[in-house]
Amino acid sequence: MLRPVSPRVCCKFRRPNRLPYLARFTVSSLSSSELFSKPATLELPNAPSVAYAAVTHPLPGPAPSSKTRETIALAKDYILPVYARLPIVLDRGQGSWVWDCDGRKYLDFSAGIAVNALGHADEGVSEMLKSQSSKLMHTSNLYYNEPSAALASLLVTLTQREGGLGYPAGDHHPTGVPGAKVFFCNSGTEANEGALKVARKVGKDRGGPTKTEIVCFQQSFHGRSFGALSVTSTRKYQDPFMPLVPGVRVGVLNQSEGLEDLITENTCAVIVEPIQGEGGVNSADIEWMRKLVQRARDTGAVVIFDEIQCGLYRTGTLWAHSAWPVDCHPDIVTMAKPLANGYPIGAVLMRDAVMGTMTTGSHGTTFGGSPLACSLGFHVLDRLSQREFVSHLNRTSAFLLRRLERLSGWFPDLVGPIRGCGLIIGLVLIREGDAQRLVELARERGVLLLTAGTDCVRLVPSLNVSEEEVSHAVDVIESCLGLLS
Ligand SMILES: Cc1ncc(COP(=O)(O)O)c(C=O)c1O
Repeated sequence: MLRPVSPRVCCKFRRPNRLPYLARFTVSSLSSSELFSKPATLELPNAPSVAYAAVTHPLPGPAPSSKTRETIALAKDYILPVYARLPIVLDRGQGSWVWDCDGRKYLDFSAGIAVNALGHADEGVSEMLKSQSSKLMHTSNLYYNEPSAALASLLVTLTQREGGLGYPAGDHHPTGVPGAKVFFCNSGTEANEGALKVARKVGKDRGGPTKTEIVCFQQSFHGRSFGALSVTSTRKYQDPFMPLVPGVRVGVLNQSEGLEDLITENTCAVIVEPIQGEGGVNSADIEWMRKLVQRARDTGAVVIFDEIQCGLYRTGTLWAHSAWPVDCHPDIVTMAKPLANGYPIGAVLMRDAVMGTMTTGSHGTTFGGSPLACSLGFHVLDRLSQREFVSHLNRTSAFLLRRLERLSGWFPDLVGPIRGCGLIIGLVLIREGDAQRLVELARERGVLLLTAGTDCVRLVPSLNVSEEEVSHAVDVIESCLGLLS
């Protein structure tokens, strides 16, 4: 049973004759999960685990199956080699676990790079996929479809209730006053492209033809298309594709000095991740953000928060900025990764104050807002926003943090500070190269982790990961740190 989101949405859910689609979507498998009935936190160990010193998942495996060998050979023959892939062929998943074609089981603490919020092979997601795909998958944007309207409404009403985009957390925004609009697309990169285009147009409306510059920050990651790449300030990604979009200035996250020079009357957009994901799980400081937003307001620049990795409950709240004071809020939020649990979708959520510039024909995409993607997005967001789900996530996060906080005491020469919050956590490794080495060692023991930036191991598990799974991952990390020391 879905709890009320807002009186307006609740009313829709309860009027299946008017919106049968929505009634169908309120079925949540969350309540059937035993996961969320566990109040207790596991005991904290007194010493680091050494239980996983031995390699259990060597790479390459001792005798890869013919399926593994043939798949890798075929992919090498026919897929553009732009990814540094490991010789593992993943075959199936369940919850936080994946299996390769040789039957080896891994605990997936990468969740497809912060995507599978509800884990792998989730029953509710699969059912929704089956039922919507047998009804209507794609229609074009020449017509309306019910799932996209429902998902847009859910995104806006949740933001109004839980905080973000100028709405304080817990605010009871008047029923029936939308206040924000959504543009649907297919990926995070596209969401950022859309947001930058909105900001460009707002800039020209506000300041004429010279108000076109964009500000981004060092170690940011916003995507690989020309616009998004132009604000992704990593030379190795940018250099081969120069020249990029002109007029981009790069600031330093959390550095207040020089904001007046960075953001000027010619700035139309400031794009920033509240928590940088790829760049090293670096959190923006609230006081700095207040100054940044104020400077943007003073100059008429549009503030874009890229919450593609950190948004949609990964930090324990709807948006990473949901609990921040409203004077630190953006004009636009971009999202993608977990919204449909792995089915491609992206979205741009913007205040009504900036959406007015976007008129018919000013932007669009064939697949954006398809009934299939949006029905999945609605189902996922509905479940992520359940109170029990969020409190489970926050409990698990607290347990993970308590376990990780002990590591620098046990391994003072190896482990630095813990970064991030919720279930986007960075473990800083002091010695150069150790972050990569730790990821490799953990993989050889059946746990999939990610690096971030140059010195950080990133933990972004599924948001419904259990304490037992967290415990196992940290036991393996501890055993690997023991090997590194
Ligand atoms: C913060 C952030 N923005 C944008 C992107 C690009 O998203 P996508 O790969 O879906 O295009 C990513 C992907 O990792 C991301 O982490």
